[in-house]
Amino acid sequence: MEDVIKPLSKPDTYTIFPIPIPSSDSDLTKFSTLRLLALRTDPSLFGSTYARELAFTPEVWRSRLDLDGRVTFVVSDEERRGEWIGTMSLLGPDALKDIPHDIPKEILRRGDLFNLVGLWVHPDHRGRGLGSRLVRAGFNYVEKYSRGSMEDIPMDNRLCAAPINEEQSRVAPDGDRKARLVVLKVSKDNEGARALYVKEGFLEWENGDAAWMTRTVS
Ligand SMILES: CC(C)(COP(=O)(O)OP(=O)(O)OC[C@H]1O[C@@H](n2cnc3c(N)ncnc32)[C@H](O)[C@@H]1OP(=O)(O)O)[C@@H](O)C(=O)NCCC(=O)NCCS
Repeated sequence: MEDVIKPLSKPDTYTIFPIPIPSSDSDLTKFSTLRLLALRTDPSLFGSTYARELAFTPEVWRSRLDLDGRVTFVVSDEERRGEWIGTMSLLGPDALKDIPHDIPKEILRRGDLFNLVGLWVHPDHRGRGLGSRLVRAGFNYVEKYSRGSMEDIPMDNRLCAAPINEEQSRVAPDGDRKARLVVLKVSKDNEGARALYVKEGFLEWENGDAAWMTRTVS
C-alpha cells in the first residue's frame, strides 16, 4: 500500500492570556481598539454601543480593565506580531457587588456568580475554536478560584481581591455548599453564540426576550 504523507498541520499561532493588572498604556490602547472594532462589526450583539464607548476617556477604559474582581482575556495572534483578535471578560463576585447588573435574583441566589461578558472573535479568525478556548480559559480561571490554588496567577489578576478561605467561602449560612456558576446573557437570535455556549455545557434559563445561561464550575 502506498504511504500517505500527511502535510504538517499549521502551527497554532494563537495565545490566550489575561491582561495583566494594572493595565499598561499599550494594553489599554490595544484593548480599546479591539473592543471598538467588536462594537462596530457586530453592533446588535452587545449591550453597549460603538458611539457610547468611542467617547470613553483613557481613564474610563483603565477603570474598566483594572476593576477589582474583573479579568479580561485576549487572544493574541503571534503570526500577526501579537495583534489582539479576540476577547472575553469575567466579572467575579467582588465586581458584581459594586457595579449595576441585571442578573435575575433567582440566579443570584444559586451561589457565587461569575458573569461572562464581551465574548468576541474577529470574523477572519472565527470557526477555529477560539471562542471555545476563551470560554474554557474562563472556566479554568474560576476553577482555580474555587480551589483557592491560584499561585500561578498574579495577585492583581485574581477575581477576588483577598486570598480565599476555601471552607468559609464555600459554605452558605444554612450549611450548604455553595455552587459556583458562570452566568451570561445572550440574545435568542444569536444562534452561533448560543450553539457555542451549549457545546461548552451552558444550560438555558429563560427570562423574557433575552436568555440567561448558566454553567456550574466545580
Ligand atoms: C460567537 C463567537 C465568539 C464564536 O467564535 P468562534 O471562534 O468562531 O467559535 P468556535 O470556533 O470556538 O466555535 C465553537 C462551537 O460554537 C458553535 N458555533 C460557533 N459559531 C457558530 C455559528 N456561526 N453557527 C453555528 N454554530 C456556531 C459550534 O458548535 C462550534 O463548534 P464546531 O466548530 O465544532 O461546530 C463569534 O462568532 C463572535 O465573535 N460572534 C460575534 C459576537 C458574539 O455573538 N458574542 C457573544 C455575545 S453573547
